Amino acid sequence: MEKTFVMVKPDGVQRNLIGEITKRFERKGFQLVGAKLMVVSNELAQTHYAEHKEKVFFGDLVEFITSGPVFAMVWAGENVVATSRSLIGKTNPSEASPGTIRGDFGVIVDKNIIHGSDSLESAEREINLFFKQDEIVSYEKQE
Ligand code: CMP
Repeated sequence: MEKTFVMVKPDGVQRNLIGEITKRFERKGFQLVGAKLMVVSNELAQTHYAEHKEKVFFGDLVEFITSGPVFAMVWAGENVVATSRSLIGKTNPSEASPGTIRGDFGVIVDKNIIHGSDSLESAEREINLFFKQDEIVSYEKQE
């Protein structure tokens, strides 16, 4: 089953949006197979956002994502990587359509509430960065 990594960022946690966001993924029909409330270390933030290392906003991005608890999740389901991106909406909340998470709850790009993997490769990489193998559950009975 396809899996993706989704993280409610510090602004989303502080605004009590964990329930609202989780509800949208559940309502859509995806299965939650991993979840934890955690504070991201500086090292993990740098690794997670390595592709943005050269960007002018990299320092602020790392500072923000380490500024308070995040809610890290792994969701499973058919085409979950791409469909999660549609549920989440465009990176800049001011351009994200109403009905999407960022469109409904966000205003500015550096506090855009939620992160979702942008490809199958990123999903695998990000899941392995944030979760150990035994922190991911299966809904099927194991022998
Ligand atoms: P995310 O999907 O987590 O991936 C990279 C993040 O960089 C992005 O969401 C934004 O929150 C953040 N970011 C901060 N400033 C900018 C910017 N000017 N343009 C794009 N992304 C930005």
